[in-house]
Amino acid sequence: MDGGPRNTIRLSATPRGVRAAAALLRQKGCVAFPTETVYGLGADARDDRAVAGIFAAKDRPLFNPLIIHAASADAALALCGEAKRAEVLAAAFWPGPLTLILPKRRGSGLSELVTAGADTLAVRVPAHPLATALLTSFGAPLAAPSANPSGRVSPTTADHVLDGLTGRIDAVLDGGPCEVGVESTILDLTGAHPRLARPGGVPLGALIDALGEPPAPMRPGPITAPGQLASHYAPTTHLTLAAQGADPTALWLAFGALNGRRGLTLSESGDLVEAAANLFAHLRALDAEAETAGETCILIDPIPEQGLGAAINDRLRRAAAPRTASHQNATP
Ligand code: TXA
Ligand code: MG
Repeated sequence: MDGGPRNTIRLSATPRGVRAAAALLRQKGCVAFPTETVYGLGADARDDRAVAGIFAAKDRPLFNPLIIHAASADAALALCGEAKRAEVLAAAFWPGPLTLILPKRRGSGLSELVTAGADTLAVRVPAHPLATALLTSFGAPLAAPSANPSGRVSPTTADHVLDGLTGRIDAVLDGGPCEVGVESTILDLTGAHPRLARPGGVPLGALIDALGEPPAPMRPGPITAPGQLASHYAPTTHLTLAAQGADPTALWLAFGALNGRRGLTLSESGDLVEAAANLFAHLRALDAEAETAGETCILIDPIPEQGLGAAINDRLRRAAAPRTASHQNATP
């Protein structure tokens, strides 16, 4: 498929929709599909031109590598070299919201663009029936970053995908809202010790149970991947984190009851799983409301750091960070 404007179609969650999506992927197209975490923008991971289409559609910097999605743990691990604990973690969490960074196997057949030339590979097996059906029907691994313009909030519905990428991708397979709502946890197994590279859908406690020890914390310092940049997942309205008080004139993203405040709550009952599922959709809705009402700021309740709270706070901190010039330019 060429790089010009595209007629983006919405495909239904039916065997026919899945077959149509697989056919577009075989023609080297870009198709968004649901996973349990967020929607991914998929393309044939073995084909340079198809993978280049993902970077073009998202305006994603070419140095930022992509996650490979496979239908089964065997198919995922076949792309990788040996790494201590890879099989234990795969057995414990796949299919599910864990991405493992492993050595890339020589002769894996993957496009060099997927890994941005590196010798490590990020792989996962998504737990969503439509993702599994698509990967099985296509019959090969898909490279898939989140299906949003680079630097913007990740999509948890097909409408979110279309908001950001209509005219830039071939289709979205509509599977309704994503259950987890934040991206996968990324664990790097290529060093001497497992290292957390991104908090996400698998809580730290579950990783510790499987590893028998805590992974090394996220590496501070120079950062090369936009998902790890200080400013990412950004709405246009300014966000104030861990806001205090109950200003009724302000716009709130609450955790727990709104108690008469204007805005939305991530979870009335203070449930972090529900809060993660609502996070990106609520950020989008409040951003739109703020724009309509001419508000400049959204106040956000403090959110506990335990369980999925770590991933929620990580995304909120990045969404609240000052935008860099490259991200201002990244939005089409
Ligand atoms: O839940 C998810 O992980 C979603 C769904 C669609 O699967 N995908 C996702 O992809 O969040 P993306 O591209 O938005 O974030 C992938 C992150 C990026 O920060 C990227 O730099 C990092 O994974 N990454 C990919 N390959 C890597 C590698 N070989 N080494 C280190 N980091 C890598
Ligand atoms: Mg992303």
